[in-house]
Amino acid sequence: MFLAELLPAEQLQRIVLVDKCWPEVTAETAGAHQISWDHIHDGNWKVPLVTRKSNIKASREVKQLQKYVFGPAEQHGPVIMLAVHLCGALSCKAIAMFNDNPIIKLMLLKPCCLPSKQMLRSRRHPVEWSFPGYFFTATDVHKAISSEDMEWLPPQPTTRGVGSLNRKFSRWVKHLERAIDSSGDGVCKQTEKILVQPNYFQNEFIFAGRHCATHPDGGDAPEC
Ligand SMILES: C[S@@+](CC[C@H](N)C(=O)[O-])C[C@H]1O[C@@H](n2cnc3c(N)ncnc32)[C@H](O)[C@@H]1O
Repeated sequence: MFLAELLPAEQLQRIVLVDKCWPEVTAETAGAHQISWDHIHDGNWKVPLVTRKSNIKASREVKQLQKYVFGPAEQHGPVIMLAVHLCGALSCKAIAMFNDNPIIKLMLLKPCCLPSKQMLRSRRHPVEWSFPGYFFTATDVHKAISSEDMEWLPPQPTTRGVGSLNRKFSRWVKHLERAIDSSGDGVCKQTEKILVQPNYFQNEFIFAGRHCATHPDGGDAPEC
């Protein structure tokens, strides 16, 4: 919503707000356990805001996003995907969407929390995530930090307990960054630490970009 005010409206066709807790598009009001959309419908937003009820863990609903959001965008220009505060494995779903849809030229992913520990004991023993050229499991995310990890993780404050959680979170973010398929189409990616929560660990942002050269307006490659 802030972006609808901040971004140049003439350069944006619409902002699609995706969440499984929106009401159905045909509903008149939001149900008790749904997100109210009054602020969306009542506001005179500079860029049109559209809500889309979608469970991004359901492959059928992801296909619907491809059909009704990413597909039509081919005619208008590139898509920027903002995936902010994605809990647990939702971050994996966002990355799969970026990997599968070249129309998404930029992705900003701010992972929210580690995937649940129940995934270590799931029927699939443990849950695993596979991407083009990369694969990791819930065990890789939750196992104790080893000296091997210290070689690939950024330095962290060494406060007891908190330091370990910080490192596990950094390792989760590293796995996510590696899951972004950078094998083609000029994909670049990087993780940046931006201190928004000084007393907590969720300060890592993943940026991924694709060259925009195929867009009719041309344009420079996103800087990563
Ligand atoms: C931590 S909130 C972040 C919301 C918002 N991006 C923000 O920064 O305020 C996580 C959101 O993910 C939504 N969510 C949870 N599981 C989902 C799923 N499988 N598909 C789509 N949205 C989901 C929840 O309804 C919730 O609104």
